[in-house]
Amino acid sequence: MSFAVAIDGPAAAGKGTISRAVAAHFGFAHLDTGLLYRAVGAKVLEGAEAVAAAEALGAEDLIVGYLRTAEVAQMASKVAVIPEVRAALVEFQRDFARRDGGAVLDGRDIGTVICPDAEVKIFVTASAEVRAKRRFLELQAAGSAMTPEEVMADVLARDARDRDRATAPMKPAQGALILDTSEMTIDEAVAAAIKAIEARC
Ligand code: CDP
Repeated sequence: MSFAVAIDGPAAAGKGTISRAVAAHFGFAHLDTGLLYRAVGAKVLEGAEAVAAAEALGAEDLIVGYLRTAEVAQMASKVAVIPEVRAALVEFQRDFARRDGGAVLDGRDIGTVICPDAEVKIFVTASAEVRAKRRFLELQAAGSAMTPEEVMADVLARDARDRDRATAPMKPAQGALILDTSEMTIDEAVAAAIKAIEARC
């Protein structure tokens, strides 16, 4: 039996952490759909054409070490505005959402476009300051030399591009639970997501 949980939200809102914890709690599979766009972005930085890269994407492209860098994130959000890039990635994500045993997908358009019939939809957000700080600490731990100001600019530029694009813009799906994690610990945010899912089980 399938059971889809759609978790959307802006950059560094905590989607990934919450999704992984929720998937582990319920024994569901987890797909970080941002990695698909990051992998296409990385290919473009290496000289590939975006649509061809999206069409040829394979599992091996998702394990490249530098996909989490800010440079790749920026390029990911640039290729993500191209409708043909998004179209090339739809089927894989929909199949994943409807696999047996339950699935959690996190991204920007999971509850609105990929899986509008998801059993549970959550939009995770937080203030830009909190998100930029979290991302700064993550990048710093990974060895990045970016300043807090650069990280903030990066997050805001990506948010604007994701929100304002014509195809599959980032926005809460109808009926989504809005989870503002600005003032929450990770445990509190995970507990709130688990409660929302249990209410639908
Ligand atoms: O981890 P973070 O929230 O910073 O970003 P991500 O989820 O890895 O996504 C990177 C970029 O991919 C986003 O800024 C979006 O432009 C794009 N993306 C998208 O358009 N649709 C998705 N479902 C997931 C990501």
